[in-house]
Amino acid sequence: MSVMTIDQLDVQDKSVLTRVDFNVPLDGDGLITDDRRIRMALPTIRSIIDRGGRAILMSHLGRPSGTGYQPELGLEVVAQRLGTLLETTVKHVPGSCVGSDVIEAAQHLGNGDVMLLENLRFEAGEKGGDHDFAGELSRLGDLYCNDAFGTSHRADASMVAVAECFQPDERAAGLLLAKEIHFLSDAIESPVRPFVAITGGAKVSDKLKALENLLGKVDHLLVGGAMAYTLLQATGRSVGRSLLEPEMVERAAQILARSEQTCTSIHLPTDHVCAETLQPGVATCICDGDIPEEMMGLDIGPATADRFCELVSAAGTVVWNGPLGAFETPPFDAGTRMVAQSVAEATERGAVTILGGGDTAAAAATFSLDDRFSHISTGGGASLQMLEGEPLPGVEVLR
Ligand code: 3PG
Repeated sequence: MSVMTIDQLDVQDKSVLTRVDFNVPLDGDGLITDDRRIRMALPTIRSIIDRGGRAILMSHLGRPSGTGYQPELGLEVVAQRLGTLLETTVKHVPGSCVGSDVIEAAQHLGNGDVMLLENLRFEAGEKGGDHDFAGELSRLGDLYCNDAFGTSHRADASMVAVAECFQPDERAAGLLLAKEIHFLSDAIESPVRPFVAITGGAKVSDKLKALENLLGKVDHLLVGGAMAYTLLQATGRSVGRSLLEPEMVERAAQILARSEQTCTSIHLPTDHVCAETLQPGVATCICDGDIPEEMMGLDIGPATADRFCELVSAAGTVVWNGPLGAFETPPFDAGTRMVAQSVAEATERGAVTILGGGDTAAAAATFSLDDRFSHISTGGGASLQMLEGEPLPGVEVLR
């Protein structure tokens, strides 16, 4: 990655305004249910404070509409969790990320201190990419760092306009951002072959651009999940009551036709675990080929899972985005579980394996396999945008 990383900047006696992605899931009581995004940012924060700098962190949480403070989306709970992980007190001024109280608190920070600003999206200027808002934020720091890979596909003020307030030699990538870009761009640009991409999830419309971009780059494109049914319909198969996006069938057919002229083989499911409804413990059957009218496909079938595992076990690189069935509802987790296990085993044999997307990461965690891949991305939308071959505004501004 042709940008400076934070460990290359002298941070001694300096405030480093650092964009992180602490958009973490909360339960009904407002408690954090998964702090992985916070833990993954620790190396960058430690790199700043251990070398005598002051870390002033900015993040969004959820999608408030920029009309001011909403207590349920305040970052106090995140500041506390971060403090526990760092074993220090993290300063936080609730209510707003800008204003005189924030400036005063930032001025009173000592070297080695950490402060987390309030949710950026309480201010309209954040989503609007507003330059005055960016100017206000930028005055809090001597240096700018972006470690928010998960938000890098958004051209929000804190991602682009704030960075532009700093000289090029005052901007750096955080260690997580650099790691994410390194894994994904190396996999896409110079993969160890065979290169296998696995795509799944509910909607083919979310993945069409990625499928198109991967044609000619990957050797095998394995497709599962509900998105496969739109592609199967395009081949003339009957898919019963499976989830379908009828308006996407034609584009799906074009992708299948285009693949014939590339080195990429597309592998669609040949058998399916079917049921009449999506419910735990419901009666299931295996359908080969066509799915009867009253049934819906809810997981790849055993023959498909075997074939996918065979391709994965020979792979040098595997990139996976999207589960292959309704894995949250057993028994429709079997296909995703089998393939996840074989990706984990491929990793142990030396393949580079990268998982992206919240659902894929959740599946890996459900199967207790989440420490057995080369990398699990913290960015669903951002990693998909990389698979689509589209630049990330939050990264481009650092180049
Ligand atoms: C994410 O969770 O994908 C990132 O934090 C970006 O959030 P957004 O989709 O609300 O911009």
